[in-house]
Amino acid sequence: MTPPALLVERLAYAYPDGHQALFGVNLRVEHGERVAVLGPNGAGKTTLVLHLNGVLTGQGNVEVAGLPVEKATLKEVRRRVGIVFQDPDDQLFMPTVREDVSFGPANFGLRGTDLAARVKRALDDVGMADHADRSPMHLSGGQRRRVALATVLACDPDILVLDEPSANLEPRARRELAEVLLGLDRTTLMVTHDLPYALQLCPRSVVIDDGVIVADGPTRELLADADLLARHRLELPFGFRLD
Ligand SMILES: Nc1ncnc2c1ncn2[C@@H]1O[C@H](COP(=O)(O)OP(=O)(O)OP(=O)(O)O)[C@@H](O)[C@H]1O
Ligand SMILES: [Mg+2]
Repeated sequence: MTPPALLVERLAYAYPDGHQALFGVNLRVEHGERVAVLGPNGAGKTTLVLHLNGVLTGQGNVEVAGLPVEKATLKEVRRRVGIVFQDPDDQLFMPTVREDVSFGPANFGLRGTDLAARVKRALDDVGMADHADRSPMHLSGGQRRRVALATVLACDPDILVLDEPSANLEPRARRELAEVLLGLDRTTLMVTHDLPYALQLCPRSVVIDDGVIVADGPTRELLADADLLARHRLELPFGFRLD
C-alpha cells in the first residue's frame, strides 16, 4: 500500500510560553488531493502548517509520503513540502526578487539556464516577471505575497501548503492564482478564510477549532451546514449563494 501524501497523527503542540495550540490533530491527505483548512483566528491552522516541514515539532506523528518528519529527514521533507507562509516577510530575505526566487531551486542543485527558466516560469505564474530585479522590501503587500508564492513554486514541491494565499490580493490576482493552482495538479493544503476560494479550489475541507479537527468532508457539504459554520465563526460573504 502506498503511504498517503501527508499523514498527521495525534499531533499536539504547546508553544514555549505554555500556550497549547494543538490537542491531537489527525489528518490524512492522499496524493493529488486539494484540501482546504478552515477555522477561526487562533484555531491552530498556522501551527499545524508549521509542523508539515518541521519548522515546529510537537508530540505525535507527521509523515510526508511515508517519511517521518524529524531532524534527520528535514532536508528531504523540505524538498517535498513547500510552504507559503502566512506572512511573506518570513519568506523574503534577498536583495532582489530574482535572488529570492532562485534561492530554493539553487539550494536543491539547479544551475545556469535550468535555474533561470525555473525562476522565470515561477515569476510568470504569479505575474511578477517584470519585477524580478526589484527589492522585495519595496513591493506592495500583495506583490510580496505573490513573490513568496513564486519562491515555493520555483522549488516544484510534491506538496504545496499555502497559508492564506488570497489575503491581500486584488480580485484579479486572486483569480489568476486560482488558475495557477488548478493547473498544477499537485497535492495541496490551503489554509484560508476565503470560503468561496476553498469551494473553488478544494473538493475537500477540514475545519479546525481550538486545536482539533472538528469537521472533515466535501467542501460544498461543509459550507452548506449553517450550524457548523456558525459554531466555528465561519461566514460566507454577503450575498454568496451555494448552488
Ligand atoms: N509564538 C507563539 N507563542 C505562543 N502562542 C502562540 C504563538 N503563535 C501562536 N500562538 C497561539 O496559538 C494559537 C493558534 O495560533 P495559530 O497561529 O496557529 O492560529 P491560526 O488558526 O493560524 O489563526 P489565524 O487565522 O489568525 O492565522 C493561538 O491561540 C495563538 O495565540
Ligand atoms: Mg494563521
